[in-house]
Parts: sequence; C-alpha cells; structure tokens
Amino acid sequence: RADAILKEFKDKCGAQNSKLKQVADAMTVEMHAGLASEGGSKLKMLISYVDNLPSGAEEGVYYALDLGGTNFRVLRVQLGGTERGIINREFREVSIPPNLMVGTSQELFDYIAAELAKFVAQEEDRFHLPFGRKRELGFTFSFPVMQTSINTGTLARWTKGFSIDDAVGKDVVGALSSAMERQGVDMHVSALVNDTVGTLAGGKYANKDVAVAVIMGTGTNAAYVERSQAIPKWHGPQSESGEMVINMEWGNFRSSHLPLTEYDIGLDAESLNPGEQMFEKLTSGMYLGEIVRRVLCRIAEESTLFGDTVPPKLKTPFILRTPDMSAMHHDTSYDLKVVGSKLKDILEISNTSLKARKLVVELCSIVATRGARLAAAGILGILKKMGRDISRDGEPQRTIIAMDGGLYEHYTVYRVCLETTLRELLDAEVSKNVVCEHFNDGSGTGAALLAASHSSYAS
Ligand code: BG6
Ligand code: GLC
Repeated sequence: RADAILKEFKDKCGAQNSKLKQVADAMTVEMHAGLASEGGSKLKMLISYVDNLPSGAEEGVYYALDLGGTNFRVLRVQLGGTERGIINREFREVSIPPNLMVGTSQELFDYIAAELAKFVAQEEDRFHLPFGRKRELGFTFSFPVMQTSINTGTLARWTKGFSIDDAVGKDVVGALSSAMERQGVDMHVSALVNDTVGTLAGGKYANKDVAVAVIMGTGTNAAYVERSQAIPKWHGPQSESGEMVINMEWGNFRSSHLPLTEYDIGLDAESLNPGEQMFEKLTSGMYLGEIVRRVLCRIAEESTLFGDTVPPKLKTPFILRTPDMSAMHHDTSYDLKVVGSKLKDILEISNTSLKARKLVVELCSIVATRGARLAAAGILGILKKMGRDISRDGEPQRTIIAMDGGLYEHYTVYRVCLETTLRELLDAEVSKNVVCEHFNDGSGTGAALLAASHSSYAS
C-alpha cells in the first residue's frame, strides 16, 4: 500500500518538459495581464519605482534593514564610488521570534528598530557623516507592497509565516519610522524595496549582465527589468532609462497546468493564507517539508510501514522542516543513517526499516524535483517575456539570473535540478548565455545601494 500511495503521488507530481513549457507560457500570459491593469492577474507585477539600477558610482555610508526571510538583518555598507567599490560591509543577523510574526505591527517594528539602535550604538565614532546629515537607510521588506514612491508603500497582505492584521493596508515606512523614533534612532528611509528588487540591484552592481533576480527561500519571488513602455498600468513619468524594475510576486501565480495533488490542496486549506501563494506552496522552503510530512502521514495511516499506529508527531503540521528534508535527501550512507536519525529525532519513529528509509528519500526527491522544475519553468516564463529565450543575430546576449535564499543556497539537489531543467527548456544556443548565479545577501547590499542612489542629499 505504501508503494502505491507513493506511486500515485509521483504520477500526479509529474512535470514533463512539455508541461513545464505550458507553465512558462501561462506565466508569460499572466505577466502581460498583471502589467496591463491593477488586479488584472494573480500576478501583481508591482511597480518598484526603481527605474535605475546602481551604476557603480555610489559613494558614502548607507544602512539597510532586511526583513522577511528566516533571519532579520541590519547592515551598513561603505561605498567608495567607481574606483573603490564596496569598501566595508558589516552586518548583524538575528532570527525573528515567532510570536512577533503573528502579534501586532508595533511589536514587530519596535523589535527591528531596537536591533537597529543596538547596531548603530556599537559603531561609536567610526563612521562620520557630513555635518547636519542624517543616516540613510534602505529597507528590504519582503512582502507584497503597493508602492507610491521609492520610499512609501502600503502592505497588500502578508505571506510566508507572517500574519499581523493591523499592518495590512498601512504604510510600511511610516510604521518603521515611528518605531525608530520610539527607539531613539534618527534615520531617514530613502528606499523601500522587496528582497528580489534588492537582489537585482546588488547583482547588477556586481555584474552588468544581471537582468533578473529570483529568491528561493522561505518564500519565492522574482523581479526583472521591464521597459516602461510595456507597462500599460504605469501612468507616471517615463524615466530617462525607459526602464522599471517589476516585483512580480510570482509566489501567487496559479495555473491549471500546475501539477497539484490532494496534499497541496490540504496544505493550502489549512494555511494562514488559503487560496493564495499557490506557486510558493509548491516550490519554496516553508512548504516542501510540510508536503513530505503530509504524504508520510497518509502512508502511516494506510500501511504498517511506520508501525501499527500513526506516530503522533507525524500529525503535527510543519514539524518536518525543509532543512531536515534536505539532509535526508542528501543522505548517501548505505543504510541511510541520516534518514533513520531524523525520523527518530523529529518524528519519534524508531527502528525504521531500510525499505521505509528508501521510501522517504524517494518522497523527498519527488517533492523537491517538482518544486525545482516548476521554478525553472517560471524563470523560462520571464525570459520569454523579456525576449531572452531565443537567440538573435549578432552579439549573443548574456543574461545572469541573480539567485538567493536559503533553499537555493543549501538544498544542493534542488539547485542542481532547477539549473539543469532551465538548460533543458532553453535552446542549446541560448542556454550557453543564460546563467544562474548565487548572490549571497545581494538584497541587503542592494537596498543600501538603492538608498545611496535615492539619497535625499543627492546632488
Ligand atoms: C537572503 C536575502 O539571503 O535571502 C534576503 O538577503 C532574503 O533578502 C532571504 O529575504 C530569503 O531567504 P530565506 O531562506 O531566509 O527565506
Ligand atoms: C514571499 C513574499 C515576497 C518575497 C518572497 C521571497 O513570496 O510575498 O515579497 O519576495 O516571499 O522572500
């Protein structure tokens, strides 16, 4: 029976290249719809107000706050202009206490402002700003925000594990600025950016061929450079560059071509945001381990592979985290020792048979492979929209996709599968010139760079 359940699940998760191409096409179609009008698609295609990515000439000391991944980060970047680049970069990282993710807006923002205050207090007199000048900050806030300028915007809704009702619809920078005031931090927020937009900016600063940024972490999302002429819903002034960075919020993508199973539907129904972020729920770090747990639970209910009764821990939602799933998936020992100890330590299932352990590895592989392949299809969708999926005469156009996030960084099999699939989906000629590159904490640095290029003291 266990094998039958696994096989049925595997069949439903199947995403052949032909199917992935349909997913990519659907992504492209939704991108057009989201750019055409507000609310025109599940894809919000948010306007970032970043119409110029860093040039390299940025100079001075800038700060950044990065909120929305597993960890919260405060950083300071000292920029030395074209000649010297990044002179110094220091950061402090803390994890967000889970109770703050579901509390009140004031508690959350006070916490991050207090961390910022500590960070600044430790600098002593090492970083001097010109007289009369406030410190400036780029705020990476990795949730869907409807921006009204580079440094204002309201939270559309929470995603991932956050759920703080009184923040929805409110001005994000206003909430941070009030908290900074309460905590005695005198700083000006010059840029409010999504982590994908920050990663794009940080990536572009390091390499001019970066044109797309993708986060595969707790959540997932992508940003890219669009021609402003191709954004019918944009009624603002045309920038000199003629470009605008778009935060796609692709986590909310949905299509009939997505291989959904009963486990995904169950996970969605019991999530903090039912009906939303379906693509994210199939591909990102917050959910992959939970999908595995759900399938294991069903197997335990209908077979004796894990004993005569369902191990109680197996019934606990989110108990199996994606890093543990990854550790099991990467277990190369002949008796699958790591799998055995994870099952014992996390799920309290002792003395598992080799057969049971093998099944677990196979299950991890099915879930990770589906996620990684769908993510690759999403990237193909963006390349299509940008016209970078076909080779053109003359100089081949190089496209670097700046990647970041814990899932991409640490889940090797996932990363390799994503990159291999993308190569398979592209024509051989094009695929030579499309590269995924890891930009670690590009988003924090990117936010500081954007604070620099949008400084209120800029001449
Ligand atoms: C970090 C970026 O490296 O990855 C963050 O600097 C981003 O901006 C994060 O939000 C996402 O990763 P995770 O795995 O922590 O969600
Ligand atoms: C979620 C957020 C999005 C963010 C992504 C990656 O999908 O809604 O804004 O970019 O996670 O952190």
